[in-house]
Amino acid sequence: MLVGGTRALLLGPVAVHPTRQGEGLGALLMTASIEKARALGWHRVMLVGDEPYYSRFGFAKLEGVEMPPPTNPERVLGIELQEGAWLGVAGEVTRCL
Ligand SMILES: CC(C)(COP(=O)(O)OP(=O)(O)OC[C@H]1O[C@@H](n2cnc3c(N)ncnc32)[C@H](O)[C@@H]1OP(=O)(O)O)[C@@H](O)C(=O)NCCC(=O)NCCS
Repeated sequence: MLVGGTRALLLGPVAVHPTRQGEGLGALLMTASIEKARALGWHRVMLVGDEPYYSRFGFAKLEGVEMPPPTNPERVLGIELQEGAWLGVAGEVTRCL
């Protein structure tokens, strides 16, 4: 995706079948995805989700990153794979064509 013109990887949606939740599969998917993104050279990753869950992997609320409505801005989260990668990155999220 592009965030105000800057490339960012959009992760997810992440979901685990209700009968297998709480077994660590979500954490496995998250850590593997983050490592893959890092290996591929991505500097920043974003997702839409619950901060109380995703903060354990290093995600925090992104300020000024605008997903199309009805996305709740409180659920727009990001992680830096390179220090400072989200600094000054804001604006509308659009497809990277
Ligand atoms: C969120 C989800 C992907 C996590 O996958 P999982 O395999 O159950 O996660 P894990 O086993 O790695 O971790 C379980 C822990 O996460 C916690 N957790 C799960 N969903 C949570 C949420 N929305 N907010 C806060 N904590 C959450 C559980 O309480 C559990 O806590 P514990 O480790 O203290 O017991 C999965 O529960 C799911 O698909 N939920 C339905 C869809 C959803 O709500 N997605 C998230 C928003 S996009």
